[in-house]
Amino acid sequence: MTAFVFHPFENHNGRLALENVDLVDLSDKMGSPLLVVSENKIRENYRKLDQAFRKRYGKFSIRYAVKSYPNLAVISILRQEGAGADCSTPEEIKIANMAGIPHNRIAFTPNNAHKSELQYGIEKGVAINFDDIPQMRLVKDQLPEVVSFRVNPGVGGGEFPGIVTAGPKAKFGIPVSLVAAAFREAMKYGAKKFGMQMMAGSNVLDWNHFDAVTKAYFDLAGKVSKELGIQFQYLDIGGGFGVPYREGQKELDLEKAATCIVDNLRNACSKYDMEEPVLMVEPGRSMVSNSAVLLGKVTNVKSYDKTFVGTDIGMNLLLRPALYGAFHHIVIANDLSREPSGEVDIVGQICESTDKIGKDIMFPKAEVGDTIAVFNAGAYVSSMSSNYNGHLSPAEVLVGKTGISIIKNAETSSDLVKGMIMPEHLKN
Ligand SMILES: Cc1ncc(COP(=O)(O)O)c(C=O)c1O
Repeated sequence: MTAFVFHPFENHNGRLALENVDLVDLSDKMGSPLLVVSENKIRENYRKLDQAFRKRYGKFSIRYAVKSYPNLAVISILRQEGAGADCSTPEEIKIANMAGIPHNRIAFTPNNAHKSELQYGIEKGVAINFDDIPQMRLVKDQLPEVVSFRVNPGVGGGEFPGIVTAGPKAKFGIPVSLVAAAFREAMKYGAKKFGMQMMAGSNVLDWNHFDAVTKAYFDLAGKVSKELGIQFQYLDIGGGFGVPYREGQKELDLEKAATCIVDNLRNACSKYDMEEPVLMVEPGRSMVSNSAVLLGKVTNVKSYDKTFVGTDIGMNLLLRPALYGAFHHIVIANDLSREPSGEVDIVGQICESTDKIGKDIMFPKAEVGDTIAVFNAGAYVSSMSSNYNGHLSPAEVLVGKTGISIIKNAETSSDLVKGMIMPEHLKN
């Protein structure tokens, strides 16, 4: 049996490759761990999503969710394709802008922001989606030209509870019952142009979810529009477009998702006499997740009452499994034809028992020195990593049009103490 590998990665005579680059050789040469990103895959992901919507609805705009992978090169690839950016902090706004995305193509959707952070967004002229009414009140004397709120449409959904961001008890957005009041209050402060945003949850593979959520959301927008006599410049449905993480999982049917989303929008527009707004999406995962693998080495194999494959990739580099039980497909990149031999945990070097990147998975007999590859390492991997236990973040390389480029240097020891100050009295 040959190990399954996700497109665009390939099995070249039993070794993992990307566009004729042998990834085992690359990891040996560049050091371990190593994050390898495919430029072509990012472009392909963008075009697929863009085309699915644009052919059905011309007033369509993609804002890449920078939080998923805030790398300048990655953002620039998406900018070249036509993307704006969705940012959750002023620092993400700065990164997106450094990557060449102008402020008028950036949306800012912060959660529990300081007044100064909201003011930063207003000064730069980015679109702001206020997460709550009191957040808007903080800047009521200097509101942005377009006032937009993040709403909780009352329906959420996501691959698992940790990545559901709407519905009952979600910490994000304004509940349905208060949405009209929020816009009414903004009008009182002089707002004349409006937008609305939502984000129901992440990594959804079932197009029916998008149907149910956007039906509720666009209906809410229509009711508010009618009740207050306002038009929306844009309606933003967030991200959430899922990608398979497991062998055999069916891809999200983007054509069906786009069809029902656009139908729901048009129906609400005609039902409530609403002008057709710009339809905005903020994808993160679906742009970058499957564009990257994280390569590491097996450093020890411990087999007592349970088998642990020890590696140099732990929760410091791949937090998602420890944080919320996320699954990532893992293979032995230097020998893809090695047969699975038993159940193992794949673990890192961190002093925590939750330091597992694979739990109870069928895996071939691993040996010290093997190269492992973790798939779906583009989204929420580099951006969620840490220096815990003194681990330095690895180099990140792009396999692209002009060959192999380093897009982030591996950290060095001095990075770990950067900004720390030793008071005089502690120096002796
Ligand atoms: C406000 C907002 N927009 C967009 C996204 C991107 O979502 P995804 O990566 O599921 O596409 C997120 C992710 O949490 C988000 O919080």
